[in-house]
Amino acid sequence: MIKTAFTELLAVQHPIAQAGMGGATSPELVAAVSNAGGLGILGASDHEAAAIHELAHVIRSRTKRPYGINLLLHGADDDQMQAVLDVRPSVLSTAWPRDDQDLGAIFASAHERGIKVLHMVPTVADAAKAAAAGADVIIAQGTDGGGHIGLLGTAVIVPMVAREVAPTPVLAAGGIADGRGLAAMLALGAAGVLVGTRFLVTPESSLHAAFKKLIIDSDGSDTIVTDLADIMLGTDWPGAVERIARNRVVERWLGRTNELRRRRDEAVPAMREARRAGDVDEAIVYYGQSAALIHEVMPAGEVVAEMIREAESILRERLPSLVSD
Ligand SMILES: Cc1cc2nc3c(=O)[nH]c(=O)nc-3n(C[C@H](O)[C@H](O)[C@H](O)COP(=O)(O)O)c2cc1C
Repeated sequence: MIKTAFTELLAVQHPIAQAGMGGATSPELVAAVSNAGGLGILGASDHEAAAIHELAHVIRSRTKRPYGINLLLHGADDDQMQAVLDVRPSVLSTAWPRDDQDLGAIFASAHERGIKVLHMVPTVADAAKAAAAGADVIIAQGTDGGGHIGLLGTAVIVPMVAREVAPTPVLAAGGIADGRGLAAMLALGAAGVLVGTRFLVTPESSLHAAFKKLIIDSDGSDTIVTDLADIMLGTDWPGAVERIARNRVVERWLGRTNELRRRRDEAVPAMREARRAGDVDEAIVYYGQSAALIHEVMPAGEVVAEMIREAESILRERLPSLVSD
């Protein structure tokens, strides 16, 4: 067992949270991670209030353990937030607020219902702001990760945030896919990890099978950090860039975003159809550098168990054996 301030605070067995990834998490995935002793989190930003109620009900029917729901704050509407508060998950997971949003008020509305708050940040300044607003856990996210990210590497942002917000527990996110990553992040001062890309490649994840294979085949160097996807989709995402596969659709529009803005009506439906069809050349596919460490589809519960087994062995055997008087 690896006990940390995070496992104690959240009453979970293992210091592993599965990232609430919009469009890629399912109640099955969330429940599998929670049942394995981690913290499963539903990505709810793509769901309307009624669907959030329904999905929360399905999760609760599959696990009695703590679980979370994630909302991207800059795009969340009042109905979505109310739905999350009403279904009372153990955790509200948040990220990417606009500067004019009152984090203190948002976190307080969760606390009033007994819901803990995990807030993800890409910079130390954002971490300080979230800690002052009352977040229970800060997630320090590095640029190695998939989806929307900042620009500091995980090995840099994690110790900086841990020092800034102590004693608030910090989870490390970005580039962690196995027990080696977990052990390393604990050494950097984290109380656990938040893992996205690794959990995409599980039978429980709702990601198209073709994209799971793309991640398995990836050597980790085939992504690009850009703002192309948000420009295509017309999303005003405060402060973020995104890590996506560098494929044909990305190559087509790189350096031509002025033209892309004019041709959204044609580009967006084609891209959405490509996502539905699992077309790895024409869809925008979000994943992180940890794709290099992922070699097979593995049940989410096994991912958790394997990470813990490997991290325990590193912490118990390999690292102590390196130290002598
Ligand atoms: C496909 C995908 C979708 C994501 N969607 C969200 C989201 O809706 N909300 C959020 O807070 N983070 C989202 N993230 C970022 C994750 O929370 C996390 O920081 C990241 O996956 C960690 O890096 P890793 O992918 O290397 O594990 C997403 C990541 C991916 C790969």
